[in-house]
Amino acid sequence: MPCSIAPGKVILFGEHFVVEGYPAIGLAVGLYASTCVEKGEFKIYSRQLGPIDPSSPLAKPFLRVLEEAAREFNCGRDYTIYIDSGIPVGAGMGSSAAVNVSLTHSLLHACGAGFTREDVSRIAYMGEVEVHGKPSGIDNTLATYGGLVYYKRGSFKRLDTLLPEGVELVVADTGVKRDTGVVVRDVLEKRRRLGRLGGILYEAAGELVEEALAALRERDVVRLGELMTVNHGLLFSMGASAWVNDYLVHRMLGLGAYGAKLSGAGRGGIVIGLAEPARAQAIVEELEREGVKAYRVKPDYEGVRLT
Ligand code: PMV
Repeated sequence: MPCSIAPGKVILFGEHFVVEGYPAIGLAVGLYASTCVEKGEFKIYSRQLGPIDPSSPLAKPFLRVLEEAAREFNCGRDYTIYIDSGIPVGAGMGSSAAVNVSLTHSLLHACGAGFTREDVSRIAYMGEVEVHGKPSGIDNTLATYGGLVYYKRGSFKRLDTLLPEGVELVVADTGVKRDTGVVVRDVLEKRRRLGRLGGILYEAAGELVEEALAALRERDVVRLGELMTVNHGLLFSMGASAWVNDYLVHRMLGLGAYGAKLSGAGRGGIVIGLAEPARAQAIVEELEREGVKAYRVKPDYEGVRLT
């Protein structure tokens, strides 16, 4: 029975703004969702959630993926799906995209289709549409291809060689779970309410991503960190933050990170910080002492693959 894994991600710059066609930079990280698929009765089992009722909302993305694979590759719909995810759910680390991508990949293998990564990303995207309505596509792109990615709706560039040495990313989990679709809708609504000012904030976010790209090219980690914190300020302005995110951003900066921001949809979920390796370890230890779940993450350069 084919089994595939796909990585989770952190967004370094540009979440939310990316939904409206502005650029973003994301990194696939070494936390994985694994999905195995075998021909048989249509059933879904999750190691974390147990059996999933095919008529429940949770099953919708999987049904959509099956439907798309049936339509494009004649795969049929009779498969048993086994999901095991090590990516925290509702935290901003792209767990749903990693599940949809690993499912699509193992399903296309189980059905014997000849397919490309582009096919996997496109079909998984349709599953993502069922999860939160208006996804930008960055999450399924990162889960499919891996690496450091500059993304703009519909196209992307790998930036792996620009990943700076001598710094690490710390993830701190607020432990607050939220629904990406709800936060995305609220942020879009706020943009409309703010009118011209909303437009200016989105333009600023687009400019910030281009400056981050320049900082990556120049290997200027101090500037990169500063831009991350500015990005957090823009996300706060758009209503994507919560006091727990702001608190952890301040805490990471106070502990010596070059920069920190919420990552993903926000209003809970995770905060990321950029720091020298020794400093990163000290930040993790201090946050853990304070009862916050914190860890360092490593890049994943491979994206989805069979196990
Ligand atoms: O919180 P997550 O992992 O679902 O990431 C959402 C990222 C957004 O930019 C807010 C939405 C999107 O589709 O890009």
